Amino acid sequence: MAFLFKSSAERGTVWAGAFARLLPDMPFRTWPDVGDADDIRYLAAWTVTRDLLAGLPNLEVLFSVGAGVDQLDLSQVPPQVTVVRMVEPGLTDGMVQYATFATLALHREMLDYGQAQTDHRWAPRPLLPAGQRRVGVMGLGHLGTAVLAALRPFGFALRGWSRSGGDVEGVEIFAGSNALPAFLSGCDILICLLPLTNDTRGILCRNSFDLLPRGAGIINVGRGGHLVEQDLLDALDSGHLSGAVIDVLNTEPAAADHPFWSHPRILLTPHVASQTRDDSSAEVLIANIRRHQAGQALLGQVDRTRGY
Ligand code: GLV
Repeated sequence: MAFLFKSSAERGTVWAGAFARLLPDMPFRTWPDVGDADDIRYLAAWTVTRDLLAGLPNLEVLFSVGAGVDQLDLSQVPPQVTVVRMVEPGLTDGMVQYATFATLALHREMLDYGQAQTDHRWAPRPLLPAGQRRVGVMGLGHLGTAVLAALRPFGFALRGWSRSGGDVEGVEIFAGSNALPAFLSGCDILICLLPLTNDTRGILCRNSFDLLPRGAGIINVGRGGHLVEQDLLDALDSGHLSGAVIDVLNTEPAAADHPFWSHPRILLTPHVASQTRDDSSAEVLIANIRRHQAGQALLGQVDRTRGY
């Protein structure tokens, strides 16, 4: 029985050290040095190819090294293989920091003040109390609920939406596509933390923007595929939306002439909202392997029929 690692060399060094300390009986192999492929029961990777999977006949678990699994073509992964997304404290911390920063940046109108500074304009604006700002999170998984918990002490009026709903203290919950219009109509700031699936692709589009109150802002920390980029430009340019903080794009890296780079109402960052932290993720992964060996459910286990 062996573990195969296919990710960055730096992460490989940290993870190999953690395996040597915490799971010394599990051989740690680094792709492409697979060794005897029949030994490989566990694989951790960002992407896989059909050929790689075809060469691992005894694979039992495929771990994504990131929070999402949309980059994996699940139709190529044999049905008996358990697929697991990364749920680890480093990723959660990063997302909580970024989403809090972006929410406060929109709430405190930092896009306007940034422009005013560029123009050398001293232009104070009235300060809206947080309780009068409605912040909505789409996606009530591990990250979405952590972001809502972090925003709560500021006093924002919080709401959350997902396919199946949930129960988050201090948050008004909306569940399912029928509830989406009611949810959106009360979001002054909308944060997208959904998984990318066939149901959520393009969900940040003109129809959704039209349902948001005039002057709303959006934050996309999900996937570029959630956003119809031209619809965002149109909604900003018409004044219906007031600003956007965008961390993910359909095509990354962005081309030099991508319109988001220079749009005055968009703060664009290069997919850095959150990253898997090498040390904390190694511990979570090893704990998950132990769970698997004990026949227990895994943290972050993907429901392959749902795609997340
Ligand atoms: C980053 O986007 C991740 O999925 O971890």
